[in-house]
Amino acid sequence: MSRTDSDSWDLASSVGATATMVAAARALASKEPDPLIDDPYAAALVRAVGVEFFTKLVDGEIPLSTIEGDGPRVMADVMAVRTRFFDDFFMNAGAAGIRQAVILASGLDSRPYRLPWPQGSTVYEIDQPKVIEFKSTTMTEIGATPTAERRAVSIDLREDWPAALRRSGFDETQPTAWSAEGLLNYLPPDAQDRLFDNITALSAPGSQLATEYHPDGGATVAERTKAMRAQWEQHGFDVDLSNLFYSGERNSVVDYLTDHGWQVTARSRPEVFAGYGRKFPDAEDLASLRNSFAVVATLK
Ligand SMILES: C[S@@+](CC[C@H](N)C(=O)[O-])C[C@H]1O[C@@H](n2cnc3c(N)ncnc32)[C@H](O)[C@@H]1O
Repeated sequence: MSRTDSDSWDLASSVGATATMVAAARALASKEPDPLIDDPYAAALVRAVGVEFFTKLVDGEIPLSTIEGDGPRVMADVMAVRTRFFDDFFMNAGAAGIRQAVILASGLDSRPYRLPWPQGSTVYEIDQPKVIEFKSTTMTEIGATPTAERRAVSIDLREDWPAALRRSGFDETQPTAWSAEGLLNYLPPDAQDRLFDNITALSAPGSQLATEYHPDGGATVAERTKAMRAQWEQHGFDVDLSNLFYSGERNSVVDYLTDHGWQVTARSRPEVFAGYGRKFPDAEDLASLRNSFAVVATLK
């Protein structure tokens, strides 16, 4: 199923299934010896979604070693580092005095429930209605309580989300910490620009933004996903995750943000790995994952 302008999903289908996939990777990464992250909610959220392949992965019923290729193994390593990068971003922003955060495309991310937000913090989460509703309900059912004032905003990011965010109480006179994690390639190129235009318009000076991007627009990651599909199908997983990215030329994230008044730093994935004392593997077939950049920007 390819994308349409107004497509929607739950956590077991289309783009929603990618949120469940990365939550499964966080659950696996949290069980590693000497883990880089601790997401105590990821496994329960994955089980609640009920996609059998992901549930069996987090429960160890499909050992990673039995899956041909290195898909879930590598994904767990990548998600450990990616999650920690965004966790640290929010905690650094809090230490710098920022008390308002917006998590765009929050999926099954449990940061509003697991990070030690500074007192007085408000955390907004934006995602599609079925995704938000499922997470809010499931977190209540499993007895999780937010560690900040959590405000969930149910809306598609291709629609007028700034208006919905304002209606939920967002204060654009205060600096904000924004994250767009695992999102950009699921937006059409012009919607990516609009996303950054909106973020810039809503940001008081000193606001910060973290995101990550693939300079090739994700085409090579999509190829890699296609190759994994055949292996995962053998375990009954039948959602095609390889055609969810929007193709076409995109503006460079670094250039676009710089042109819009942000001071930007970008580090390659191997550099981010090294910053956490980990080595990104040299294997040739991981080139697509290696070619990814983590960005932190501050509005001047
Ligand atoms: C790969 S998941 C990442 C989720 C989360 N950021 C994380 O890292 O765990 C992609 C997420 O983007 C959301 N998403 C993609 N396009 C969206 C759109 N147009 N509007 C709202 N949410 C969107 C999906 O619903 C999904 O939760």
